[in-house]
Amino acid sequence: MTTLARWKQKCALVTGASSGIGRAIAQRLADGGMNVVVCARRKERLDELVEQIEADGGSALAVPTDLREEEDIRALFERTREAFGGVDVLVNNAGFGKNESLFDGDTETWRAMLEVNVLALAVCTREALNDMDRRDVAGHIIHIGSMSGHRVPGASGMYSATKYAVRSLTEGLRHELRARDSDIRVTAVSPGFVETEFAEVYHDSKQKAEETYSRFKVLQPEDIARTVAHVLSVPEHVQYHDVLMRPTHQES
Ligand SMILES: NC(=O)c1ccc[n+]([C@@H]2O[C@H](COP(=O)([O-])OP(=O)(O)OC[C@H]3O[C@@H](n4cnc5c(N)ncnc54)[C@H](OP(=O)(O)O)[C@@H]3O)[C@@H](O)[C@H]2O)c1
Repeated sequence: MTTLARWKQKCALVTGASSGIGRAIAQRLADGGMNVVVCARRKERLDELVEQIEADGGSALAVPTDLREEEDIRALFERTREAFGGVDVLVNNAGFGKNESLFDGDTETWRAMLEVNVLALAVCTREALNDMDRRDVAGHIIHIGSMSGHRVPGASGMYSATKYAVRSLTEGLRHELRARDSDIRVTAVSPGFVETEFAEVYHDSKQKAEETYSRFKVLQPEDIARTVAHVLSVPEHVQYHDVLMRPTHQES
């Protein structure tokens, strides 16, 4: 049974909560009684989510954040400490891909992918770990990776590179936590196709996004949220390392 009882009134920070997977995770954790901090660039989306969570009886704070700006990240954690004392669960979900060839891809787009998907994830993780250590909290860091961190589908070399990096950051952190004999846990969740705004951003085309998600029944954001809630619900001696999730009919 998935119960978030031990996390009630604790604080979850979810990055990239203005749409898709992050939004669903934030709602799920708020439903479970957690205080949720949601961040992304689109403020109006975050405000609408907070309204929804509060209308459902939950507690949430929106902090507009551009994860490419380290100052924004520091302010995000500061606001979180002021509102809820600090982070107990960090869900590093924000990320995006762009269909940029290794022959002639745009350097700035590569840089943005690396900064959001890899660097910001590492900076947020460091800030959350400091927060947890300072308060002696046995917290949980969850990275949203991808099946693209486990194999390279077609010409998505740079996006896949960022998700392979997330795998390295997951295993690297696990080693560091073990070396410190820490009770903090780290988990990656690595989905295949999920119906979100991801494909439209990736292809820069609504039509291609519709094609991507209509070939077979793909995962829904709530499927990932359910898995995150499950990962958080297991006893403290259990640590999921990387949860690979594909739609049943996805081949690659
Ligand atoms: N959908 C899939 O098929 C799939 C599969 C495997 C893994 N994933 C991973 O799942 C995660 C969530 O993606 P999604 O599918 O839910 O896509 P999505 O609907 O496009 O959501 C992406 C989120 O990332 C945020 N974001 C992007 N750049 C940001 C920045 N500079 N600063 C702050 N937030 C930023 C976006 O918010 P703003 O635009 O408002 O800033 C948005 O909330 C990503 O890490 C993605 O790689 C997705």
